[in-house]
Parts: sequence; C-alpha cells; structure tokens
Amino acid sequence: MKFDPKKITIKEVGPRDGLQNESVFVPTADKIAWINQMSHTGLSYLEVTSFVHPKWIPALADAVEVAAGIERVPGVTYAALVPNAKGLERALSARIDEVSVFLSASETHNVKNINKSREETFPILAETTRDALAAGKSVRGYVSTVFGCPYEGAVAIEDVIRVTDALLEMGVSEVSLGDTIGVAQPRQVQEVLEVLLKRFPADKLAMHFHDTRGMAMANVLVSLEMGMTTFDSSLGGLGGCPYAPGASGNIATDDLLYMLHGLGMETGIDGEKLQTAALFIQEKMGRPLMSHSMQACQA
Ligand code: HMG
Ligand code: MG
Repeated sequence: MKFDPKKITIKEVGPRDGLQNESVFVPTADKIAWINQMSHTGLSYLEVTSFVHPKWIPALADAVEVAAGIERVPGVTYAALVPNAKGLERALSARIDEVSVFLSASETHNVKNINKSREETFPILAETTRDALAAGKSVRGYVSTVFGCPYEGAVAIEDVIRVTDALLEMGVSEVSLGDTIGVAQPRQVQEVLEVLLKRFPADKLAMHFHDTRGMAMANVLVSLEMGMTTFDSSLGGLGGCPYAPGASGNIATDDLLYMLHGLGMETGIDGEKLQTAALFIQEKMGRPLMSHSMQACQA
C-alpha cells in the first residue's frame, strides 16, 4: 500500500465529543489535567469543550473554567464547539483559539440537536463565523449526519453539498464531515467522497467517524486512499452525540495512531505519552475505555 501525502493531522475531540455524552461529570480540575497531558503528546489540535447551553450538555457546563484553566502549549490549537453568539461570547472570554460551528445535513437531526431548522441556523452560524473571524479566531465547520440520520435514514448528497457550500461561503477554513451515528461503510465513504472531492479540495475537508458498527477504521483507510489527510478522533474511543440515538464513541485516537504509524504515516504524536493520558482519563471515568489499544495494553 502506498499513500501520498504521508503527513496526517489528527484532531483530538475527546474532551468535547468524548465527554459530552458521558453520564459521569468529570471534575473541572481533572479535565484540565487531562487536556494538559494531551498537550504534551505531539497532538497539534485539541477540541477542549463546548459552549453550548449547559442544560443541553451538563457534562460540559464548566466550559469557561476548563478553557480558561488549561496550559497553552505553543503550536497546539485549542478549539471548542460554539452554536451561536452567546456561545461565542463565552468562548472569547475563555480565550479559545478556534471556533467550531455545526449543523446537520438532515433537517430532523438539526432540529433535535440545536432546536432550529437548517434555514434558521444558517444566519446564526454566519453571524458567529463573521464575529469570530473579526475577533482574530479561525473557524471550523461540522456537518453532521453526512452518511445517515437517526430520524430520517438516508441523507441526500445534495443536502451535504448545500450545507458544506454554505459553511465555506461563511468563511470556515475546513469542513468536518460527520458520520454522527456510525452508519457509514467503506463503499459509501468512497462514493460520497468521489462526489464531494469533485467540488471541494481535499484540504478543505476532514473526516469525523463514529465507530458504532466497527467500520470507522475501514472508513479511514478508504478516505486515506482518496487523499484525505485530516481525521477527528477521541482518545480511548470516548464519545457520542446525545441528540443522536444510537451514536457511540468516535474512532479511537490510540487505535488510529497505531494504524497510521504502521502505514508509515507521520502524525507527530508520541503513542506512549498518549497511552498515559488514556490511562489517566480511564481512571477518572471509572470504567474501561473501549479502544482496542487500551484493552490490549491492559490485557
Ligand atoms: P435554544 O433553547 O433554542 O436557545 O437552544 P435560544 O437561542 O432560544 O436561547 C434560550 C436561552 O438559552 C437564552 O437564555 C439564551 O441566552 C441561552 P434566557 O434569555 O432564556 O435566560 N443560551 C445559551 N446559554 C449558554 N450558552 C449558549 C447559549 N445559547 C443560548 N451557547 C442551543 C439552542 C443551540 C443553545 C441548544 O440547542 C444547544 O445548546 N444545543 C447543543 C446540542 C449539542 O451540544 N449537541 C452535541 C454536539 S453536536 C455533535 O456532537 C456532532 C459532532 O460531533 C459531529 C458529528 O458527530 O456529526 C459535532
Ligand atoms: Mg461527533
């Protein structure tokens, strides 16, 4: 197997996508200690929390304290999810580097997740993006339910294109394509990327796979073959989306790293240091983490 280019960017979303769906509230000091450990593993990007409404995501109600309390290691981008102007105000007060706005390709998931139709969401995200850019922040966009919706089933590629176009027009630097409920399989990933890559350059897109059906690694491999170089993942496989029934964890950063390094790809990340950080958060969660690497290292 030969892949070109060999440099891959991993965006660690565990402190946000991982923790948002957990019933355990990880104390603020532990979240900060965990993020600080990951900052020294060679990861260049950490999504550290979410400035959504704390009633909607109680596990991340301490977003301001977490983002304001972490160490800022040079060369690491500290990002957070931001749904609207109120979220941006909180994110700016906590000195976040990058803002991630989000919406869904499918209408029903968008309404369940952020209480607005897609049409109502566009101007809110446009305003948030404009104001974040004006404040000197970079902005990333997520499209959820790209490969399937928990309420509507199949999602039309035209909807994915429309929402991706809208985000790029607003000025986001990259769009992350979310398999929110982990239904994608390799052939579908290939077919979807064949269409999208005719319209958008690969370096404007990232892949965000959840591993509900064990397909995430195969989906990454196909994406690599199609020229994708940026992947979101969550240490130990933590994660899910509380407003997407059936969603489970993201692809595990530790497992992803094992495959990428085995393929000769460069990530800049130290696997041993990452494992130490995984053991730390596992102890705080009080349950075994789901990744294969974590199970193997403790067997
Ligand atoms: P809403 O109730 O429609 O909000 O919620 P609103 O604009 O009508 O405002 C109602 C009240 O909430 C107001 O307060 C606002 O100030 C306040 P009041 O005047 O009544 O006192 N408020 C806020 N407070 C704090 N922070 C805020 C905020 N916004 C409004 N940001 C809202 C709309 C978007 C806020 C809500 O629906 C929400 O928080 N949803 C978030 C759901 C969520 O976090 N889902 C998971 C993340 S997405 C995901 O996991 C998918 C992803 O991983 C990719 C993939 O896998 O596909 C990214
Ligand atoms: Mg997700």
